[in-house]
Amino acid sequence: MNAVVDFININRDHYVEELKQYLAIPSISALPQHAGDVRRAAEWTADSLRGAGLQNVQLIETPGNPVVYGDWLNAPGKPTILFYGHYDVQPVDPVELWTSPPFAATVRDGEIYARGSADDKGQVFMHIKAVEAYMKQGGTLPVNIKFFIEGEEEVGSVHLDDFVREHKTQLAADVVVISDSPMFDRGVPSICYGLRGLAYFQIDLRGSKSDLHSGSFGGGVANPAIVLTQLLAQMKDRSGRIKIPGFYDDVVELSEAERAEFKKLPFNETKYRKDLGAPRLFGETGYSTLERVSARPTFEVNGLLSGFTGEGAKTVLPATAMAKVSMRLVPNQDPKKIGDLFEAYLQKICPKTVELKITRMHGGKPWMADFDNQFVRAAGRAIEQGFGKAPVFTREGGSIPVVSTFQEELGVPSVLFGVGLPDENAHAPDEKLDLGNFHNGIIASAYLYQEIGSLS
Ligand code: BES
Ligand code: MN
Ligand code: MN
Repeated sequence: MNAVVDFININRDHYVEELKQYLAIPSISALPQHAGDVRRAAEWTADSLRGAGLQNVQLIETPGNPVVYGDWLNAPGKPTILFYGHYDVQPVDPVELWTSPPFAATVRDGEIYARGSADDKGQVFMHIKAVEAYMKQGGTLPVNIKFFIEGEEEVGSVHLDDFVREHKTQLAADVVVISDSPMFDRGVPSICYGLRGLAYFQIDLRGSKSDLHSGSFGGGVANPAIVLTQLLAQMKDRSGRIKIPGFYDDVVELSEAERAEFKKLPFNETKYRKDLGAPRLFGETGYSTLERVSARPTFEVNGLLSGFTGEGAKTVLPATAMAKVSMRLVPNQDPKKIGDLFEAYLQKICPKTVELKITRMHGGKPWMADFDNQFVRAAGRAIEQGFGKAPVFTREGGSIPVVSTFQEELGVPSVLFGVGLPDENAHAPDEKLDLGNFHNGIIASAYLYQEIGSLS
């Protein structure tokens, strides 16, 4: 183990240089013009797995972007880890707000800035390098491991449920390990035991066959922009509670014990508000901010579009109005059932003065796990070795759709050990990863394999 850690320490700067190459590939899964880059990133990932000494490395085709697979299964009698991550990244717009170009990774003040640095290439690379350190030092790993890196996470992992079902044997393992989330705070490493689910929709309203002169026709027909805002205004009440009938039926309430644990976490509400630049915090009455952003469901408007938005004034009555909306879900809400409730409510409250079209986009189930198991304890010890501190346990508000599928289809626990930070700017301009956390994450990953390998 010492030799492995020494090797990782010696190669610290070298890893950053290699990571820069990975981050240079604009593997934006949402944009069709980047399809070639997405494939290039898959191939780069595969080459890097091969270089680390993994076997059976291959791109496996799906109806969408390929999955990258590689394994090392030469530790008979030892547990098998299934490591999951994603090589695709989010779009970079508004690109003019980046301090340095999103695909020319730049180090400033000990952080590497690039799209995908934290979410998720940097964290995937951490595990590849931990494997490589073992293989270069002793030619062997203390555990069996399968790497399963997908390319459609940022667009909802739509083909992955089928993939997991069809490759159950190939993916069989004792535990899933994922590094695709932030830690609780700088200097506060964490293990995440819950993720929210997601249900995403587009709403289109049409009030006339084309835009109209607002003087000649205004007053004679409904304005779809106004109807849209009236509909959206009926989604939540002033206390932040969602008004879709039946929406809360399956929500598992926070237990008193969990609420007590949440209260112990080192969270400063004033600092949180200031960091966000928000005049006031707002959320559902009766819940703390931490509870609101991780353990309670939400309804959000992600985007709105209608009428004239250019410079100056144009007297127009728009023909259409569009909104993108999404709901974050908590156990045991089901995205399909929530979708049905939402559609029924929207149909019911929408006036006949406009045509309504609802498009269901991607979704994902929420996930929450009992974290009292030997794998989580092993991860706790590994994090302590890598970061010098035992982790806290948290729930996160984001979604990783395949995690609940792993639980349902493979029937094994997942350990979510992320090394990002709350201010990592994931999905935003200036995404970054702290290089100290990246380095400690490689060491913690190496310890994690050893710790899991020594479980019987
Ligand atoms: N890495 C995130 C998920 C995440 C974010 C976990 C924050 C914990 C905290 C992942 O890449 C992501 O962005 N997921 C999407 C899923 C969606 C596209 C289905 C999300 O949460 O919006
Ligand atoms: Mn991610
Ligand atoms: Mn993401």
